[in-house]
Amino acid sequence: MKSGANTEIEMQNISRKKITKRSDEDIQKKVETLLDKMTVPEMLGQMFLTAYDGEYAYGPEFEANNAAKLIKEGLAGSLLGPYDNRVAYQLQKLAINESRLGIPLLMANDIIHGCRTGFPINLALAGTFDPQLVEKACQIIAYETAHSGTNLTFAPMLDIVRDPRWGRVMESSGEDPYLASEMAKAYIKGYQGDDLCSYDTIGTCIKHYVAYGAAEGGRDYNTVDMSERMLRQVYLKPFAAAIEAGATMVMSSFNAFDGVPVTANRFLLRKVLRDDLGFKGVTISDYESTVEIIEHKIATNRKEAAELCLRAGLDLEIISPSYIRYLEDLIDKDSDLLVLVKEAVTRILTLKYKLGLFDNPYKNIYPNFEDYWMKPEYLQVAQAVAEQAIVLLKNNDILPLNPQEKIAFIGPFVNNRHVVGAWGGKVKNEDCVSIKDALDQTQYPYLFHPGTEIKTPNDTWLKEAIAIAKEADKIVMTFGEHEYESGEAASKTDISIPKAQMELLKAIKSLHKPIVGVVFSGRPLLLTDLEKEVDGLLYGWFLGTMSGNAIVNTLYGKNNPAARLAMSFPRVIGQIPVYYNHFNTGRPANNPNNQYTSKYLDCPNEPLYPFGYGLSYSHFRYENLELSTHTLSPGDVLEVSFSLTNQSDRNGYEVAQVYIEALAFSVTRPVAELKAFQKVYLAAHESKKITLSIPYQQFSYINLDGIDTPEARTYQIKVGGSSDNFAFIREIKTV
Ligand code: BGC
Repeated sequence: MKSGANTEIEMQNISRKKITKRSDEDIQKKVETLLDKMTVPEMLGQMFLTAYDGEYAYGPEFEANNAAKLIKEGLAGSLLGPYDNRVAYQLQKLAINESRLGIPLLMANDIIHGCRTGFPINLALAGTFDPQLVEKACQIIAYETAHSGTNLTFAPMLDIVRDPRWGRVMESSGEDPYLASEMAKAYIKGYQGDDLCSYDTIGTCIKHYVAYGAAEGGRDYNTVDMSERMLRQVYLKPFAAAIEAGATMVMSSFNAFDGVPVTANRFLLRKVLRDDLGFKGVTISDYESTVEIIEHKIATNRKEAAELCLRAGLDLEIISPSYIRYLEDLIDKDSDLLVLVKEAVTRILTLKYKLGLFDNPYKNIYPNFEDYWMKPEYLQVAQAVAEQAIVLLKNNDILPLNPQEKIAFIGPFVNNRHVVGAWGGKVKNEDCVSIKDALDQTQYPYLFHPGTEIKTPNDTWLKEAIAIAKEADKIVMTFGEHEYESGEAASKTDISIPKAQMELLKAIKSLHKPIVGVVFSGRPLLLTDLEKEVDGLLYGWFLGTMSGNAIVNTLYGKNNPAARLAMSFPRVIGQIPVYYNHFNTGRPANNPNNQYTSKYLDCPNEPLYPFGYGLSYSHFRYENLELSTHTLSPGDVLEVSFSLTNQSDRNGYEVAQVYIEALAFSVTRPVAELKAFQKVYLAAHESKKITLSIPYQQFSYINLDGIDTPEARTYQIKVGGSSDNFAFIREIKTV
């Protein structure tokens, strides 16, 4: 589609008049009136989200420009993309001016951890343990997105993840339902603000509903089977939190759950989502998950698939056109289906009203959209967030580095701008600051050599790297996997550091100089062999545009690392899944006199680094624990107070964490459950009194009778700086 001078002028003239939020009653009336005018094909058109240029589509039905034709006929109500504002403008114009009813299109995109300014991958964002910071990042992401033609993001991803073989762990907030729920609220607040009609905010689509993260063997799209209690206690929690925070859309996941693909799963889409969680917004398939139920062997053809998904509660179909193709015929035979279609269309039109699209269909379309991207203040926040996302895993007094010392920077990630991570939106690799770029902005004396490619060794480079390392006082070595090795369809059975990099380490090690490792990755990698060989170790994830500055500032002490792990790091592949909030079993491994316990013969049960773990250049002391009560009744709030002291000469952050353990309950519960945390800033030698609150209801768990209750039980309250390191353990009772 060509864009000419007229388009430019028209785009310049788009009105930016404030859109006043409509009342629910007003929207309801408007939607009812509109629905009355709609033909069945037009209703089905609202239930179809297509792509403009076939970029995301495959199959014979998707020739280029198909979308334009469908839009004019009122047969496509939403779009994936487009990534070009001019195209977005022209397609919206078609919908408004040339379709019979002029219903605006909804334009959605995957903006996951940055639109144009790149923020750290989501697993690293969760590791900040700082929901306010994440909210601030999301406000920027929303602003850039809202000026790039997009009305809604397919985010946040709320899958609980316990298997680092799964490539999509990078999009998630990790293994813990409480942390993920706090992050979920921050994402929704940050993206949506308190006014969906605003020109600066966007709608959200929480995904992938549900339990997609529990794919067997960590293989993407694989089967999920778990108890309903596990579903509700763990996997549903962040969804419940996001729905309460006002999330506008829910994406059904690819996986089957208890034998039924989620996209056709009436129990999950109607009973759990609508009745139990109270979700009133729009449900959408994950891509072609509607027709994939044929591969799941639940339907034999697309027509059957369309009917099953509609009956199950799926409102909006992405890419595969089975709703628009087959439902009309089915409705002719069974008018009950029309009732379901009307319900779905009502929800979709309501969302369009809520987003202000009926008031200004062009609200997110700007001619000079680049002007709204990567503003200096956004880059500043991106750097601050990246700094807060770096995890210090080991430090034998080698860090921070002394700026006077000559440091050799070796490895494939020093001069490498591939640090965006998968699902980077419009974030560009060439805009990212590499470690080398950042060093060049300083006066620090440094040497550099890649030594090897990420996977392919290079003998000449290896020799050159050794020669350079010989000249240095200390060595910083970078390790990791390519950014494309995590993300969708990026499951791996081998998550160790590539052999070429370990060979390089061995060669450099023979020089007997102190070594710091910095790891880049979208998932927890196996660090067991690496951590033994280095004196200091930072986990740099993929930190986005300002990556290099954040890492260099951390290495040299301008930033004091504060992040924690949102996901446990296994020692070996054979331990997976390994996560902190596991059950005790009848034969816990802590009895050395019993051979017959739940353990491995060749490896400890514990991960290499647990959830909540992360060091700082400062040292913190916990003292003087006080509990507001020892008996907690309904309506009470337990206040956990203690003093926290920074014992070092450096300002820093501690992440204080409170876990509970039910000492007995009518069903078995995890050995620890995170219930509160606070990231605390303490100047050098400063002490603060910290109080964390846990409401009575937070002690609840679905008991044997299916009731969500704390029961009248004894609980341990465990306070400390990691899920495996508690400064205090005390008991309280619930009544
Ligand atoms: C992914 C979703 C994404 C969708 C649309 C799917 O393949 O699983 O996370 O939102 O594509 O791009």
